[in-house]
Amino acid sequence: MNYSAKSSNPINVASGCLVTAVFSDKSLSDTARAVDAKMNGALSAALRRGDLKGKIGDAVLFQPAVGLKARRVLAVCCGEPRKELSASATRKLAGAVAKELKRHNVRHAAIAFEGVRVAGRDAADGAALLVEGLESGLYAFDRLKREKAERTLQSVTLHGSSRAAARALGTGVERGVAVANGVRLARDLGNLPGNVCTPSYLAREALKLRKSHGLKVTVLDEARMGKLGMGSLLSVSRGSREPAKLIVMEYAGSDRKDAPLALVGKGLTFDAGGISLKPAAAMDEMKYDMCGGASVFGTLVAAAEQNLPVNLVGIVPSSENLPDGAANKPGDIVTSMAGKTIEILNTDAEGRLILCDALTYARRYKPQAVIDVATLTGACVIALGAPASGLFTKNDALADALLAAGEESGDRAWRMPVWDDYQEQLDSPFADVANVGGRSAGAVTAACFLARFTEELNWAHLDIAGTAWTTGANKGATGRPVSLLTRYVANHARG
Ligand code: BES
Ligand code: MN
Ligand code: ZN
Repeated sequence: MNYSAKSSNPINVASGCLVTAVFSDKSLSDTARAVDAKMNGALSAALRRGDLKGKIGDAVLFQPAVGLKARRVLAVCCGEPRKELSASATRKLAGAVAKELKRHNVRHAAIAFEGVRVAGRDAADGAALLVEGLESGLYAFDRLKREKAERTLQSVTLHGSSRAAARALGTGVERGVAVANGVRLARDLGNLPGNVCTPSYLAREALKLRKSHGLKVTVLDEARMGKLGMGSLLSVSRGSREPAKLIVMEYAGSDRKDAPLALVGKGLTFDAGGISLKPAAAMDEMKYDMCGGASVFGTLVAAAEQNLPVNLVGIVPSSENLPDGAANKPGDIVTSMAGKTIEILNTDAEGRLILCDALTYARRYKPQAVIDVATLTGACVIALGAPASGLFTKNDALADALLAAGEESGDRAWRMPVWDDYQEQLDSPFADVANVGGRSAGAVTAACFLARFTEELNWAHLDIAGTAWTTGANKGATGRPVSLLTRYVANHARG
């Protein structure tokens, strides 16, 4: 797909489809009004007839568009006139446009959305969101199907009403494409099944980013992790035939002396629960238990493609969690790299067991901030569902920055407590800490477990169990929270 920005008048441009904005009160944008005039009022007549419902993304197609150079015209409802859209509404709008363009087999689309603004964002950010939303809507995972999805759309041109407007759109297109590429990588890795996407596969995919994106990539094998004392991480992988990997990816966009931001992503390529075996229903979805890791891959790609002036280190501990004669047993006590002993009361609470050692490892980079991303708890799905990732941190400034990045990107998070009041749920009579804290506040006690390994770090945890994939008919990885994280990194880098 090719995205570009132009200042030429979309009315005079030959394209497969001219996409133009109309509003819920049946009023027309400037371009829509010009289109309407060329079509002898067909557009306004259709609106008067009520062909277009007033919801954002509702669309009517005119084909052929007599009197126009475009073969078709797609009039899309962009909400109330002069009212700014939220970032998530903009994503929805773009997704709806993508669906229509797909449905009508459009090859070249020209989008003229002048007069459509995103609340609190400049035109470049609006264009970036549009590109992200279009790419999301066009996404199909057919790598393992013999019959591939049709991909007809080849190019999209965003039209600005002036040179300066087009320049801003061009900046946005570049950013949007970079983020969309990161999101796509995260979705692809997430959607791959557990028998393909193993820890070794993830490690090989990381190594490819050396050449494609100039990242420094190091993969630690089990022997290296053993020498480092990662007894907690290795205890999870003992029950699996696939060797664990600790994947470290570094992006250097700033001075070597500048402390990096560290992103740590759970890379559990299949979580059967271990000896505390999960029930069979929907267990296939536990192939998505590496989506936190995948979002770290995606964020590094998006940052590198934008040459963001920042240093990043991405750390992905990767393992399977399966029942086996060598697997962890409830009651087992292991020693983490930090030296703390952990009583494993439930082998299905394995994410925190691999993350605690990865977080300890992150300390050697003396990071400015450490953000871990994990499909950590079913409890977070119950608490927040799909709209928001759970955000846990004791640092208000870091919380605010991440929440703002979520709002701005339309990839939202909601803050939850990590108060010490919950810590006693994790006390163990036999070890320094237990790996589960009972039924109540499960997402919080999981975060509290990690907090015991991140003291003195500027740390935040994102629980993406409810946001990383969708279930049902449209089952699939979402690529969240790549947009949120990239926005956070960009805000941080650009000051
Ligand atoms: N990967 C799961 C969390 C999960 C479950 C994410 C369902 C999305 C949907 C994690 O490893 C896990 O099994 N957590 C347990 C923790 C419990 C044993 C304290 C859970 O949430 O049930
Ligand atoms: Mn589990
Ligand atoms: Zn898990």
